[in-house]
Amino acid sequence: MKRIGVMTSGGDSPGMNAAIRAVVRTAIYHGLDVFGVQHGYQGMIDGQIEPMTARTVSGIIHRGGTILHTARCAAFMEAEGRAKAAAQLQHHGIEGMVLIGGDGTYRGAEALHAEYGVCCIGMPGTIDNDIGGTEFTIGFDTAMNTAMEAIDRLRDTAASHDRIFFVEVMGRHNGYIAMMSGLAGGAEEILVPESTTTLEHLVESMRTGRARGKDSMIVVVAEGDELGSAFEVAQKVAEISEFKDTRVAVIGHLQRGGSPTAFDRVLASRMGVCAVEALIAGETGKMVGISNQEMVLRPFSDSRTVSNRPDLRLLETARILSV
Ligand code: F6P
Repeated sequence: MKRIGVMTSGGDSPGMNAAIRAVVRTAIYHGLDVFGVQHGYQGMIDGQIEPMTARTVSGIIHRGGTILHTARCAAFMEAEGRAKAAAQLQHHGIEGMVLIGGDGTYRGAEALHAEYGVCCIGMPGTIDNDIGGTEFTIGFDTAMNTAMEAIDRLRDTAASHDRIFFVEVMGRHNGYIAMMSGLAGGAEEILVPESTTTLEHLVESMRTGRARGKDSMIVVVAEGDELGSAFEVAQKVAEISEFKDTRVAVIGHLQRGGSPTAFDRVLASRMGVCAVEALIAGETGKMVGISNQEMVLRPFSDSRTVSNRPDLRLLETARILSV
């Protein structure tokens, strides 16, 4: 292998730049040419492919977002789109790709390899931590800490006004960010899609909190929870209980930006080295993961078939500690 490409795809996550830097510099260290594909699969189709150097990735390890830009691309789902993308890679002499993203990114990579023989190695980049085959995804730690800091701030004002706040955090269908930021932020209740909480149970728990002398409370709501968004939960609680004057805060995309934590930078750096060395060793169709602090290579299919759910025992921990 003489020439590889690197791309970010799907939702951005803090640490993607550190991952790009690691891929580019590892490739150069091992004597490979390396190209950056901009705007994910759409840029691959459109030929937005530029050579990268060790200096192109200077001063980005601490920056959120992705210097390569990213996109979610419907055209790549079609055979015609993939044919154009493969032709662009061939035109640039790119034999292998490192793809940083989530599940959708890997599906595209599987097709690219199966149909056009492009060697593909994935790196898990998403704040959701919802990819099987790895204990952590790049960006989750930063997003979890951002959510925790937001909860800390909301607790200050909640305590000052004796208020109840419903705080919505991201995670798509996964409750990792809610669970961990809620526990770290001392939330009274945490609603996650992996565990069913009835409205009645929630109200009961809030009443218990009041009876124990809690004037203010924080309820963290994962965006994918079955009870609905934080606004909907607050409204439903108001309809059936005395808790009518509550407040709602949706942290939203603040969780996607910002300087990555040391954990995410180190994770991205290690994974980038591992991904390029895997390509050089002739590996393809696999993603890099972390398991028991070691870098591992797993088939792309593990990202979908292996479960990566938060430990539900932590909900009980949070309940014990909110007594
Ligand atoms: O996958 C990352 C994520 O931030 C999810 O947590 C969220 O559901 C989704 O992306 C939001 O997508 P968009 O940025 O397209 O609004």
